[in-house]
Amino acid sequence: MPSARRHHSTSVFVTTPIPEEALNTLKSSCDDVVVWPDHSKLSRKEFLSNIESSDGLLCLLTDRVDGEAIRRMKRMKVIANCAVGFDNIDLRAATRRGIMVTNTPGVLTEATADLTWALILSTARRIPEADRFLRADNYKEWGLMLLLGQPVYGKTLGLVGAGRVGTAVAHRAKGFAMRILYYDPLRNEKLETETGAQRVDLMTLLKEADIISIHVPLDKTTRHLIGAKEFAVMKPTAILVNTARGPIVDEKALIKALKGKRIAGAGLDVYEHEPKVPRELKSFQNVVLLPHIGSATLESRTRMAVLAAQNLVAALDGRTPPNLVNPEVLQKLR
Ligand code: GLV
Repeated sequence: MPSARRHHSTSVFVTTPIPEEALNTLKSSCDDVVVWPDHSKLSRKEFLSNIESSDGLLCLLTDRVDGEAIRRMKRMKVIANCAVGFDNIDLRAATRRGIMVTNTPGVLTEATADLTWALILSTARRIPEADRFLRADNYKEWGLMLLLGQPVYGKTLGLVGAGRVGTAVAHRAKGFAMRILYYDPLRNEKLETETGAQRVDLMTLLKEADIISIHVPLDKTTRHLIGAKEFAVMKPTAILVNTARGPIVDEKALIKALKGKRIAGAGLDVYEHEPKVPRELKSFQNVVLLPHIGSATLESRTRMAVLAAQNLVAALDGRTPPNLVNPEVLQKLR
């Protein structure tokens, strides 16, 4: 067991309790595994002081690993994000310092696609609003025109981003006989063959789609990708769904579009300044709001934690982690 010796003094910081299986993966390779017992009580100061002398960090999408944090790291070799998105990490600063960064793709695709569909249907058919209506004892009589929603079956789905999750959402849309449009810098031929999806420019998609669903990562090219100009071309019956990252949508522009009835509704799992949700958004009946639970099944979350731990251990063992997002770093480490 060469690793026992190599890691004799390796220290790993984990910012939140993780499933036992993931913890065991870390412990099998690292002697000193520090798990912060309560993420909500991890102050910035404590976070910074804990990462200072760690060789590995296993963190959440809510841990801000910015330039300041990376400057504090004296021995860090790997930052294993327990998420597929890694916009919380300053990738360039990490690469410059020769620190590997990893994510957890694949293991949350289906859970997130399921939740996207839950939002599509619950927004289109006003399910949370109808539930509130009933609980408030307003259901006195069946009504021909009561709580009318938007149809989904046979309509047009516009996918902004056709990667793993976008593709999984498209496959489900086949069961709803939907016409599928997608916007993505890369052509996805497999998606086209399997679902009949058609690649179009963003404005065409926004003009033609009944349901617009966002599945791009957040970076400087996608921040505020959907703003006032984009809302202006949407159908008044359109529904916007976001299970990707909040800042891809200009939240102020969204509120304005909803106020002006530019669109019919929105289903959101993510927000521009999480966990803050603007009071105005909460005031709209036609908006469904979820607390970033796209990947929240026990199966997915366990697999994410295990994968993050495997990535971390691989890096500390001197192997290339399976989900390295900054492969340029390897040249630096050679
Ligand atoms: C969740 O938001 C993730 O990026 O995994």
